[in-house]
Amino acid sequence: MYYSDEIVEEVRARNDIVEVVSGYVRLQKKGGRYWGLCPFHNEKSASFSVNGDLQVYHCFGCGAGGNVYTFVMNYENYSFPEAVRMLAERAGVALPQEDGSEEARRRGDRRARLLEVNKAAARFFYYQLRSPHGQIGYQYLKKRELTDETMRSFGLGFAGKNGAYLVQYLREKGFEDELIQEAGLARHSEKDGGMLSQFWNRVMYPIQDINNRVIGFGGRVMGDGEPKYLNSPETPIFDKRRNLYGLNYARKARSGNIILCEGYMDVIAMHQAGFTQAVASLGTAFTAEQAALLKRYTETVLLAYDSDGAGVKAALRAIGILREAGLTGKVIDMRPYKDPDEFMKGLGKDAFEERIRQAENSFFFEVRILQGQFDMDDPEEKTRFHREIAKKLCEFSEDVERDNYLQAVAEKYYIGIENLRRLVARYAQSTGLAKQPERPKSGIQKKKGPEESARQSQRLLITWLCSEPGLYGRIRRYISAADFTVEIYRRVAERLFAELEEGRANPAGIISMFQDSEEQKEAAALFGAVLPRLDSKQEREKAFHEILLSVKKNSYEYHIAHMGADVNALAQAIAGKKALEELAGTHISLD
Ligand code: UTP
Ligand code: MN
Repeated sequence: MYYSDEIVEEVRARNDIVEVVSGYVRLQKKGGRYWGLCPFHNEKSASFSVNGDLQVYHCFGCGAGGNVYTFVMNYENYSFPEAVRMLAERAGVALPQEDGSEEARRRGDRRARLLEVNKAAARFFYYQLRSPHGQIGYQYLKKRELTDETMRSFGLGFAGKNGAYLVQYLREKGFEDELIQEAGLARHSEKDGGMLSQFWNRVMYPIQDINNRVIGFGGRVMGDGEPKYLNSPETPIFDKRRNLYGLNYARKARSGNIILCEGYMDVIAMHQAGFTQAVASLGTAFTAEQAALLKRYTETVLLAYDSDGAGVKAALRAIGILREAGLTGKVIDMRPYKDPDEFMKGLGKDAFEERIRQAENSFFFEVRILQGQFDMDDPEEKTRFHREIAKKLCEFSEDVERDNYLQAVAEKYYIGIENLRRLVARYAQSTGLAKQPERPKSGIQKKKGPEESARQSQRLLITWLCSEPGLYGRIRRYISAADFTVEIYRRVAERLFAELEEGRANPAGIISMFQDSEEQKEAAALFGAVLPRLDSKQEREKAFHEILLSVKKNSYEYHIAHMGADVNALAQAIAGKKALEELAGTHISLD
């Protein structure tokens, strides 16, 4: 770790979690906390809660949870040191200078080093493009009608014919060969001074994450070489499934939609024409992770895929993924051009604006493509087409939505509404394929097993003690960290009780002590339990007493069960029995 516990804690304390999260998620105050739509999964009703008193967040839908650090780490895809730096800057806390020794460097964050070497390489390519060596690349981009301004804002560059220059430059900047290789910029070679540059005679497109950091490259060959585009390999900082080219700009476009294209050049041409909401996946098919990412910024995704067969196929796949993510998908008709880049050159931006307005609802697009596979003059084929429509309709989980589409598609394709309805009903029944209707919000709760109920009591007790630290003094003789039978809860309890002994509790600080994200989540859930809402003092005292008893009882049973394996368990069990009996007859007052 780069920073001391004191610094980490100070930075955390100076960044109010409600304020920080509000920068990303619209929050509303309800009860003692703030609620909003969870940024870590797709949802329509708010189950993401932020607790300002405890300085933690927790999502009741997907289980995400943590403190202000884990929030920015997950949201911004930061490493821990990056999160510390960002929050320190936000709060105006001066961080101690990092130790620049060789040793510290080796221990240093690999991700940060990979980002640095990529940044240096991007700079090198950038200057090459503007040097005499880069004239081929520069002329190529000019021919593709990019302005200097566009080339600058996308940081375009050039990898010249002599790859040794890049390696030499990076070595001079102090990057080790191993790191350069790990970043995918060069590979080991017997000759060429030990390293052979990966990119060679290509126009270079730096790929940036949403925070404008260079995480990889796409390089387009000059001429007809293979492959046409060479992309950086996946590295600890370059996850192709979770990033989109151009999203760093598109997220700020505020156009009410995002345009999804296939290629780098498409994105750049669109941005140059003013459609700064354009993004593209990175030389791979569009993924569910990318859909979830888009969901943070928009409700509507317009597909601007190539108009050829491969493009249609890719669009159909993407539509399914968008629907799964709860996004509205529409398809832009690029014909008679192949792709957005060519369309822009051919018809220009006003015509494209018009195509956006006419973008086809993704369901109708699917049905239209489907129709092309059947011969409508053949009654049998026509019936099969209708059956396929019925099958597609079954994919809508909401009754109203399904029926709206059913009516619209029946009208459009001259199918009797009632006939189509029957087909849908029959299809749903025979296959059991109709999606389950969405579970009502006040739905029946999952029945809890004994294990879950034990966890629940332990969580409630910890949450309760954090909100009313004064209670600790009254129960400390009955309870100890050993009563927490879930390993991670026990670790939290140990630390929390030590803090409570000194009359304070700092849940958000406790979460920082876990490095593993699963553990952070579990720990955060511990502080995120919803306390029973009870009005009278008697009811509250009764509830508290029951929780306490339940924790003790579970602890007793647990230690009895583990007696054979653990000598301490016997002692725990005996002490536990005594405490349990005593506790059963004790009134604990809550004022
Ligand atoms: P296209 O072949 O449609 O390229 O591939 P393009 O964007 O029209 O390229 P230009 O106009 O000829 O320069 C679309 C996208 O697929 C990925 C790239 O992301 C490209 O932008 N791709 C394509 C690769 O990753 N590797 C390849 O060899 C080809
Ligand atoms: Mn193209």
